[in-house]
Amino acid sequence: MTNPKPIRKAVFPVAGLGTRFLPATKAIPKELLPIVDKPLIQYAVDEAREAGIEQMIFVTGRGKTAIVEHFDIAYELETTMGERGKDMSVLDSSRFTPGDIITVRQQVPMGLGHAIWCARAIVGDEPFAILLPDEMMWGEPGCMKQMVDAYAETGGNLVSVLEVPREDVSSYGVIDPGAENGALTEVKGLVEKPPVDEAPSNKIVSGRYILQPEVMRILEDQEKGAGGEIQLTDAMAKMIGQQPFHAVTFEGRRFDCGSKLGFVEATLAIALEREDMGGDVREMAHRILGD
Ligand code: G1P
Repeated sequence: MTNPKPIRKAVFPVAGLGTRFLPATKAIPKELLPIVDKPLIQYAVDEAREAGIEQMIFVTGRGKTAIVEHFDIAYELETTMGERGKDMSVLDSSRFTPGDIITVRQQVPMGLGHAIWCARAIVGDEPFAILLPDEMMWGEPGCMKQMVDAYAETGGNLVSVLEVPREDVSSYGVIDPGAENGALTEVKGLVEKPPVDEAPSNKIVSGRYILQPEVMRILEDQEKGAGGEIQLTDAMAKMIGQQPFHAVTFEGRRFDCGSKLGFVEATLAIALEREDMGGDVREMAHRILGD
């Protein structure tokens, strides 16, 4: 397939309560917790922008408005910094063309599939991306750019995958892999959070998707699945055989920022890589470890 419709829109489900990070997330959305000096959500938004995506759709809930504020003009800040002649380029990537940040509400947490379905009217009748901000994908080019490039060849539906130890598969969506061609693997089946001994592989869906709009129609009638939630994985599974469906093995590193350990790991790894502070962080780490 050549020249599939371009991916212009990305959906970010950000309605979760963030209970694993309490008390930090009592008054602050977990998506705004910083990795060094950038909130988690912005790494995902930057990744989408790098892939040529223009419109960001946040599926939010109560207590999450600060996420939208983050991507707005900060009038007082900018005026004061301007008057003082300060460099404001640090704010550039969190400013958007009017109309390119859109929010919809998910009133009740009913699962990832339901969250995505809440964005159906904004997505409309075109293919779209989904990025789960908890999964921090670190690579050059970024994960979504790698997927958009693959999509130009395959069209249809794509998920990013990576391999995990077999005993960990039950926390994820898992693919039943078919033929492989470089980073691309045909997807023959998808199952959400299978028991270890029933998992079709150890290739898990790692929070990045390019999907055709038909998935919204399927989600409309999707019944509850694993954990009593409406699962995106179950709706995607119904498209296999109807439309092309591939997995892209991400070349890069992934940090599970939905867990405390993953969050600390991401903070350290990224701080160590930063040109402005990497050396100092390395020295500090040695000092703390006493070696
Ligand atoms: C969700 C998806 C799952 C995917 C995972 C990646 O699960 O349902 O298929 O593998 O994200 O993080 P959750 O983490 O919301 O339980």
